[in-house]
Amino acid sequence: MVHVVDHPLVRHKLGILRRDDVSTKNFREVANEIARLLTYEATKDLELESLSVQGWAGPVDVEEIKGKKITVVPILRAGIGMLDGVLDMVPGVKVSVVGIFRNEETLEPVRYYVKLAGNIEERLALILDPMLATGGTLSTTIDLLKEAGCTNIRGLFLVAAPEGIERIEREHPDVHIYTAAVDERLNENGYILPGLGDAGDKIFGTK
Ligand code: URA
Repeated sequence: MVHVVDHPLVRHKLGILRRDDVSTKNFREVANEIARLLTYEATKDLELESLSVQGWAGPVDVEEIKGKKITVVPILRAGIGMLDGVLDMVPGVKVSVVGIFRNEETLEPVRYYVKLAGNIEERLALILDPMLATGGTLSTTIDLLKEAGCTNIRGLFLVAAPEGIERIEREHPDVHIYTAAVDERLNENGYILPGLGDAGDKIFGTK
């Protein structure tokens, strides 16, 4: 299921990221600002539990998030560009890092780095990648999380292409997608139009 986080703040910030003259500093900051707002939406249904604490005027009933079992899964390298924003909202979570590249001859995704948090089967996984393009990397990441026993998976993206969304809905209909925008289409090189360009290059300043 796709959740488009359609809010004036998100639209404004995305407009900054789309500018060709955006600086590396500004892109990094705004990508993380949008990541915070996506996290807010993607954690809307977390379970709470009640407890009594000592307040300024005596005991008071409050709520806290039950279990706190979340892992954030940035996909290397561009996913790192959303990590700080997400951690601002859920500071205590474990970070599971995934690196995947596509073998240019076989076109098969190759997992070159995987370091998952412990007890992954008990956790909600929040996958981070600025761009959901063809969906190939995302599908492989979801496969490896499921192989490790994770059953509760959501993905956070700055921009998604209809082609990638369709693929994930077909291959992983249980996974929820949170994105700031669904753009028009992919070009012949797999870039999203109008998109943001190469999000990794923009975040790391490697254009
Ligand atoms: N990755 C990017 O960085 N940009 C795209 O448009 C698609 C994939």
